[in-house]
Amino acid sequence: MTSTGTTTAALSVRDVSKTFAGTKALDAVSFDVAPGSVHALLGGNGSGKSTLIKILAGVYRADPGGVIDLAGEAAPADEMTPDLAASLGLRFVHQDIGVFPELTVAENIGLVNGFEGRGRVPWRSLHKRTAALLARFEVEARPDQPMAELRPADQTMVAVARALEDDSSGLAMLVLDEPTASLPRHEVELLLDAVRRCAASGQTILLVSHRIDEVLAIADAVTVLRDGREVITRGAAGLTEEELIRHIVGRSVQTVFPRPPEVAAERPTALRVAGLRGEPVRDASFEIRQGEVVGLAGLLGSGRTELLRMIFGAYPREAGEIELYGEPIAPSSPTAAMDLGIAYVPEQRGIDAAFPELTVRENLSLADVGSYRRGPLFDHRAERADAGRDMERFSIRAAGQRAVFSSLSGGNQQKTILARWLRLQPRLLLLDEPTHGVDVGARADVYSIIDGAVAEGLAVLLVSSDFEELSRVVDRVLVMRAGTISAAPTTDLDAQAITELVYDAKEAA
Ligand SMILES: Nc1ncnc2c1ncn2[C@@H]1O[C@H](COP(=O)(O)OP(=O)(O)OP(=O)(O)O)[C@@H](O)[C@H]1O
Ligand SMILES: [Mg+2]
Repeated sequence: MTSTGTTTAALSVRDVSKTFAGTKALDAVSFDVAPGSVHALLGGNGSGKSTLIKILAGVYRADPGGVIDLAGEAAPADEMTPDLAASLGLRFVHQDIGVFPELTVAENIGLVNGFEGRGRVPWRSLHKRTAALLARFEVEARPDQPMAELRPADQTMVAVARALEDDSSGLAMLVLDEPTASLPRHEVELLLDAVRRCAASGQTILLVSHRIDEVLAIADAVTVLRDGREVITRGAAGLTEEELIRHIVGRSVQTVFPRPPEVAAERPTALRVAGLRGEPVRDASFEIRQGEVVGLAGLLGSGRTELLRMIFGAYPREAGEIELYGEPIAPSSPTAAMDLGIAYVPEQRGIDAAFPELTVRENLSLADVGSYRRGPLFDHRAERADAGRDMERFSIRAAGQRAVFSSLSGGNQQKTILARWLRLQPRLLLLDEPTHGVDVGARADVYSIIDGAVAEGLAVLLVSSDFEELSRVVDRVLVMRAGTISAAPTTDLDAQAITELVYDAKEAA
């Protein structure tokens, strides 16, 4: 390690490359991050953001030749290790936030950051220390709560708090990989406020995000990656949304999503839910017509996810009725729901929905493998053709159909799962944060594909924390209020109006 003595940058990345078998994930990337700034790292799905961050963290080894310089302490990029990264002052929260769901919040803190004292684990002091840390970062959780009980949002906050626990001086450089992707609006703002406060006190922050509005609201500077190359680094002042998107995607993009045509009142009712209950859902009643996209907005813990899971037979229902096209149904398991033509794309894709060690092609065809059986034979050619078609339609970027699912970037994993469900041609599609982590270019593609299915009669119930997006893609919005549902007004429904409704709902709770 040598001191360059000349640089004033908090972080200087120089000529960093990374080659995976068959893929050049990063190609001689160079940029500087100014001290005390919020620097956004942007780029489409698979552009190399997470790879760069993992190299900074010493998790992936860079190709030889690059240099990583932290405030004048330079290290060859291919010699970074987790210990070196930590001693240089780097602190990380990765896209996969690295928590142990079956352990408590306090254990998650203690196991990673260490326990005070020696010998037996001093539980009392660990719990006290954890409680103080949770308070410092305004995380709503108890030290003794199992991590799995926390929503993704709170889990992320625990990971952030954990990363900064030892940094009372605020001199560490905090690296966040899509910290807000799973957070509802209110929590996004809390987190962004915390990020702003950190930066104001001199902490440098490198932030990966797909939410352009959020980046423009908070970043001092941006670096855009495309296909593993740095395309621009500049101050955020004066940068427009349109210009930024053009750098990310490499062309102009229609950011106004196609609005579904108005749904005729005589369309049959696809889904009718009456008096549905199952903690925390207390009393949910609503209808969705065939060919209608209905949004479901609500705060964290309002019961949005549980409601979807109940309809999918994956969460216990205590009372209430569900009808699908007039037929009373009582799906007791996800398989039963699927047989009825219900598809559900969950929020936590990695855990619930994918087979990480199988290939992209296998992940795509898994839900419908039977369709390739020809007597004793398997029609590989048809399977390949279908996989090729879906990868094209959903712009799934991977080394090929045989790339292992876990090697895909986060956004490409999400698109793969969506593509698989839509193949089943469901009658009712339940979507929980479907574009979470999906880049601006592909987002429009995803919605136009969903639109295509809707035009053929699919009914969709969509949960999204991105109210901007919600207001643009749905026909109607339902607001979840302390476990009950009310309809939002149908006129002038923009992101601001949805935010207000959701907050009113909170006060009424
Ligand atoms: N472990 C791995 N093995 C093989 N290829 C990989 C691996 N990790 C990443 N890649 C490839 O490197 C490229 C960059 O991926 P990366 O995860 O850095 O993208 P990203 O910019 O973080 O995208 P996203 O916004 O979707 O998270 C992709 O083509 C990806 O498939
Ligand atoms: Mg990523």
